[in-house]
Amino acid sequence: MAFVDSVEDYDAFAAEYNALFEDFDGWTRTQYQILLELLLELAAARRVLDCACGTGAQTRGLARHGHEVTTTDASAAMVRETANLLRNDGLEAATAQCRWESLPVQLTARFDVVSCCGNALAHSPGLEALQRNVDAMAAVLDSAGALLVDSRNWERMLDTRPRHEVLPQGTYAGERLVPIYTFDWVDWEIRNPLEILFLCLEPETPRHRSYRFSFYPFRRETLRAVLRSAGLEIAREYDSPDRERYAIVAHRVL
Ligand SMILES: C[S@@+](CC[C@H](N)C(=O)[O-])C[C@H]1O[C@@H](n2cnc3c(N)ncnc32)[C@H](O)[C@@H]1O
Repeated sequence: MAFVDSVEDYDAFAAEYNALFEDFDGWTRTQYQILLELLLELAAARRVLDCACGTGAQTRGLARHGHEVTTTDASAAMVRETANLLRNDGLEAATAQCRWESLPVQLTARFDVVSCCGNALAHSPGLEALQRNVDAMAAVLDSAGALLVDSRNWERMLDTRPRHEVLPQGTYAGERLVPIYTFDWVDWEIRNPLEILFLCLEPETPRHRSYRFSFYPFRRETLRAVLRSAGLEIAREYDSPDRERYAIVAHRVL
């Protein structure tokens, strides 16, 4: 059975990733709101690690509000995009290319909050990799630190197995685009292929380009068990209003 991760796929996709968002700044603000409650609760929280930065949705929100942010991603191209966007906005964060499993070795700092958001964990190729990756995130938490992870509601997705998901159209780099996700559902915890296709409506005649990814859907109960095995205690869970996504906050057990 093929277990491949999506790091090279994201290297190829980095320059267009933000075309998925009708309003990337709005997405950044929403992501910060999700983190805010946690940051307020951990009043002394200073050091935050965003370990799946992508193009910086969570990082930019954090940096804009004055947090001391370290931001990493396995994809060098995604880290570069984040660094460019931070620079353009006059914001600061320490950036590094780092895979999840390398976090405890590559980073010497320990963090009050570690964020792994934007449905990133489902790129862990299988359950063993998922456990290894969450263990590594837990290992870079300070003694009273908290890990925030989020996920799509895979139970709902695998129940209904939608073939396509059409995102709102927007304009990106001068093109009128409709982003379309095409799923090819297989099963739980094994490789499920995903194609992200941009249908380009303007300025020329309609054409398209596409990117391919792999993801490994897990049940919410499985993620809870993985967090507990990593020595974390689940503090809180959130569901998005449409119940399409959820987030879990887990603390290090003292
Ligand atoms: C769906 S994007 C989420 C990005 C961002 N957090 C957001 O909300 O837009 C998933 C990210 O996880 C990263 N990623 C995938 N596998 C990884 C791994 N093994 N270690 C670190 N990052 C990884 C990808 O490169 C990609 O940038």
